[in-house]
Amino acid sequence: MVALVQTVAYLGLEARSVEVQCQIAPGLPKFNLVGLPDKAVNESRERVHSALAAMGLSLPPKRITINLSPADLPKEGSHYDLPIALALLAAMGVTDAEQLTDFVAVGELALDGRIVPTPGVLLAAIHASGLDKGLICPAAQGSEASWASGVPVLAAPDIISLLNHLKGVQQLLPPPPGVADAPAHGPDLKQVKGQETAKRALEIAAAGGHNLLMIGPPGAGKSLLASCLPGILPDLTAAEALGIM
Ligand SMILES: Nc1ncnc2c1ncn2[C@@H]1O[C@H](COP(=O)(O)OP(=O)(O)OP(=O)(O)O)[C@@H](O)[C@H]1O
Ligand SMILES: [Mg+2]
Repeated sequence: MVALVQTVAYLGLEARSVEVQCQIAPGLPKFNLVGLPDKAVNESRERVHSALAAMGLSLPPKRITINLSPADLPKEGSHYDLPIALALLAAMGVTDAEQLTDFVAVGELALDGRIVPTPGVLLAAIHASGLDKGLICPAAQGSEASWASGVPVLAAPDIISLLNHLKGVQQLLPPPPGVADAPAHGPDLKQVKGQETAKRALEIAAAGGHNLLMIGPPGAGKSLLASCLPGILPDLTAAEALGIM
């Protein structure tokens, strides 16, 4: 049987779908990793091996092949550890392979089975929401991932609690969406003396989302008025903040 788990490859500010395929076949014991892995991805075999050992599981004495598809796309980074481990566990029959098809997984594994943060979780979450799938990510990055629309996020501290959640033995709480730092506002509108008509036009434009055209002699206060606008605009929603990222 071939077990499949979805993950992503990061290409600049873009995430591309990558499928982790795992096959356990009879033959001499071997753990192969193919599909253009870089050094960090290649070393994930050792981390996965140790993380499984920390759970009390040993690799079956068979020929294990992991393929990262599309095989011609170079794979970089340590976030493949978790999807590789999940594909292996599904192929071993430890977890339900069917259940994993609803998720995109990213995360690095520590030797003791903890799931540790890797860069790019927000991109993976946006990608997962585009595919209408949930995201499995490190617990420390759950809040960051929750920013990307309403995809279910499984933020697991370690691989055992993730497997227990998938089995229904333990419940992982949905992470609260992260709080963004308040943006630095320019001058306050109350610093503008007079100019009542201009201030009213500014308020109407801010409330209704209209365009503004300011005409006046040099020094009349056009730039000052314009720099007051962010201070009276409502805070961005998560989707708007991501849109102008
Ligand atoms: N109504 C006002 N209340 C308080 N300060 C003002 C007012 N109008 C102008 N100022 C001050 O005068 C200076 C010049 O204003 P500002 O740069 O906004 O003019 P401007 O209309 O953008 O000029 P320009 O057309 O040369 O770009 C700024 O320091 C601004 O703070
Ligand atoms: Mg100006």
